[in-house]
Amino acid sequence: MSCVVLESERLQLRKWNDEDTAAVEDIYLKPEVMEFIPGGVWSPERTSRVVARMRELDIEQGFGFYPILVKSLGTIIGHCGLGFLEQTPEIEVAYILDSRYWGQGYASEAARAMIAHGFSKLNISRIVAVAFPENVRSIGVMRSIGMTPLGRAHHFGAMLVKYEARKPGDS
Ligand SMILES: CC(C)(COP(=O)(O)OP(=O)(O)OC[C@H]1O[C@@H](n2cnc3c(N)ncnc32)[C@H](O)[C@@H]1OP(=O)(O)O)[C@@H](O)C(=O)NCCC(=O)NCCS
Repeated sequence: MSCVVLESERLQLRKWNDEDTAAVEDIYLKPEVMEFIPGGVWSPERTSRVVARMRELDIEQGFGFYPILVKSLGTIIGHCGLGFLEQTPEIEVAYILDSRYWGQGYASEAARAMIAHGFSKLNISRIVAVAFPENVRSIGVMRSIGMTPLGRAHHFGAMLVKYEARKPGDS
């Protein structure tokens, strides 16, 4: 079984492996990266637990969150994937990238490919995304990949901006 989940022009998303936790822990320790993530920075122990949970969810659900590699560098620059939005039946796309790699279209490329994968391979018909209204970079990704704004919605104990994408051809 291939560990590659999907590839796009510059990126590969694959299953996590045991060495990845050490490779990504510095990313989630950066305050600027975690500014809009509830709870703030992750300690290396927390990253280890979160990655372990991502791996479990992928096995349980058949989809989840995966490390993003830049193919030309072979480096993990963060993660992107699909998951249930809180306890709802809605599926959200979410992403966290190392600030060293912001502003190069990587998050948009990963999220667009992940949504297409959800529609074509996972038979998901609707994918949402949420962000704090101040998180202009994240909202920039939603806009840039053509998601539709739904206004504000209450999630994770806060009023967030919500966008959606619907599978082409579905009513
Ligand atoms: C959000 C995040 C993933 C974006 O990553 P990125 O690779 O820099 O995003 P992209 O380069 O694909 O940019 C996406 C769009 O946002 C726009 N954008 C980027 N920075 C912006 C800013 N400061 N203000 C307004 N728009 C901005 C870009 O112009 C681009 O739109 P375009 O394609 O129309 O030009 C990254 O900043 C990040 O990891 N942030 C911390 C974690 C986080 O907040 N995750 C989301 C939780 S909801």
